[in-house]
Formats: sequence, structure tokens, C-alpha cells
Amino acid sequence: MSDFTGQHILSVNQFDRASIERVFSVADTMQAYALRKKRTTVLDGAILGNLFFEPSTRTRVSFGTAFNLLGGEVRETTGMSNSALAKGESLYDTARVLSGYSDIIAMRHPASGSVTEFAQGSRVPVINGGDGANEHPTQALLDLYTIAKERAFHGSGIDGLHIAMIGDLKFGRTVHSLAKMLTLFKNVKFTLISPKELSMPSYICDSITNAGHELVISEQLEGLVEADICYQTRIQEERFTSQDEANKYRGKFRLNQQIYTQHFKSQTVIMHPLPRDSRAEANELDNDLNLHPNLAIFRQTDNGVLVRMALFALTLGVADKVADFDRPVHWFSNKSST
Ligand code: NCD
Repeated sequence: MSDFTGQHILSVNQFDRASIERVFSVADTMQAYALRKKRTTVLDGAILGNLFFEPSTRTRVSFGTAFNLLGGEVRETTGMSNSALAKGESLYDTARVLSGYSDIIAMRHPASGSVTEFAQGSRVPVINGGDGANEHPTQALLDLYTIAKERAFHGSGIDGLHIAMIGDLKFGRTVHSLAKMLTLFKNVKFTLISPKELSMPSYICDSITNAGHELVISEQLEGLVEADICYQTRIQEERFTSQDEANKYRGKFRLNQQIYTQHFKSQTVIMHPLPRDSRAEANELDNDLNLHPNLAIFRQTDNGVLVRMALFALTLGVADKVADFDRPVHWFSNKSST
């Protein structure tokens, strides 16, 4: 994707290394606005339609916040039962209608492929905020942006990375998108750890090996000392046929201070797309790591705003104009980068 203007963002397959780097360099320029040092009105008059037909906290709010920080306004629809989809309206019709009310749309929906189907009826760019177990491209970008920053801190890049992905790799759309995006880099080692029934879809494993990367599949944490990134995930209970079925896998792969020290080197960065399931029977990422300097989960969420600001600025064609419309902020703010 060489020019983002007017494009939908539906899948990580649309990206090459150059377009990823473009997103990251624009995201870097958004820091001052995200930290409320400056305010820009470059998207003055633009409306984001934020359509979330599945539960969401950070993706929905960070899309809205990112748009507001660029000076645009947000109209939100949440929950299937509050929309005319519940009356049998097609995604196509919904898209035709809502794209008349908005200048760009961010959408999450429980069915794989639904956001692409919706985009076919939309007259404005559509950004996929997660379609079922399929993809979550903006999460992959913010995860990769976080990985790049964490690695830069230790003087390395993304090439040569060893990432361990742990948990529900079958239904977890964040690991699907991140794994696919990482195949664009060089010499990445993937260690995929999950119960056999929740393993990474074979087409993604194939794309890893076909691109010449090293792939290790395991059902235990043993042998991870060399991993640079430990990417932990939640059991995606909403994709199981019953809670009993999901219960079989909860708590299988926990990470806490003691397990971290036992299995990982001291520089291993801990990531999680969040939400972490903090109920006792799951608790895949324990609170006893909350103050650990290598815990990047809240740096991920902060980076999500920067990356989503960059995507809005690029798709609406204003990435180079943001500073032309900025001014100082006068009110109290003590935000700092995490
Ligand atoms: C993820 C999602 O919705 O896919 N959350 C997110 O967007 N940060 C992961 C999850 O729900 O487990």
C-alpha cells in the first residue's frame, strides 16, 4: 500500500515493510498530541462512525480518542441489539447508510469477513477493529510498533526477533494478525505454545515456514529462555460453543513473577493485547508482574492511540498537515509517556 488516502484497512495482508514504516513514522509525530502538549484541529468537521458490534473497551475508546485528538468528532454504535442489524438489515445496507453519516468508519463484528463485506457497501474508508477470530490489523500494528520501540531500547530491530505466542492461538485474532505481519521481517523465530486443540491455524503456520522463518510448536513453556517477547493471550471464551468447553483451557498457561523468572531471560518483554482475564480460574497474566519494567501491556495501550491517529491521518490524507493546524494546550495535564 503506497498511498493510504481513501483506502480501507481490512487485513494485515495489505501491508508491506515500507507501508508499516510509514505508519510508524507518522505515529511518532503524534506523541505530542497524545500527551496533550499540543492540540491539532486537522480533522475539524470530520466524523468517525465507531461501530462496535462486539464487546470492546480499549479498541473502541482508543479509536474515538485518536479521532478526537486530531480534531474530529465521533458517533458511536455499540451492541448488535441496538442496531438495525437485529431487524435483519444486511451489512451492505448498513454500510450504505452509515457511510452517508461519516467520513471514516471503524468497525468490530463477531463474524469473520464481516468488515470486508461491510466495506463493499461503504462510500468512506473502513478500518477493521476485529472481525471474529479472523483479523485485528490495527492491534498488529500497535503490537509491532511496541515491539520495535522495546527492541530499539535494547539496540536491536525487529529482524532476528524470537517471539513466544502463548494461549488461545486458534481463536485469538491478535496473534493471527501479528504473526502474519511478522513474516514480512527477516529471520524471526516463532515459538507457539497452546493446548493442541487451540493451536495456530495451519495456513498461518505455513506462511511462517514458507517465508523461511523458524517455527517451534509446543504445549509447554519449557525452552523459552531465549525469547525476546512473551506474547500472552486470553482464552477467547466467546468463540467456544459453551463455557464448559472454554473452562477446559482456562489457567493452562499462567504467567507470574515466579514462572517468568523460571522460564525467561531477564530482558524478555511481556505483552498481552488485553483484556487479561484476571479471574482466579484463568489469571493468565498475574498482577504480581504489574510493576515489572519489562511488562509492556500499558505501553501497548498507549501506543494504540498513536498508531490509530496515524492511520486516520493517512487514510484521510492529512498526515503531512497535522502540525499546520496545531496550537498549545492551556489546561493542566501531567501525562507522560510510559
Ligand atoms: C483483543 C480482541 O478483541 O481481539 N482485544 C483487543 O482488541 N485489545 C484480545 C481479546 O479480546 O482477548
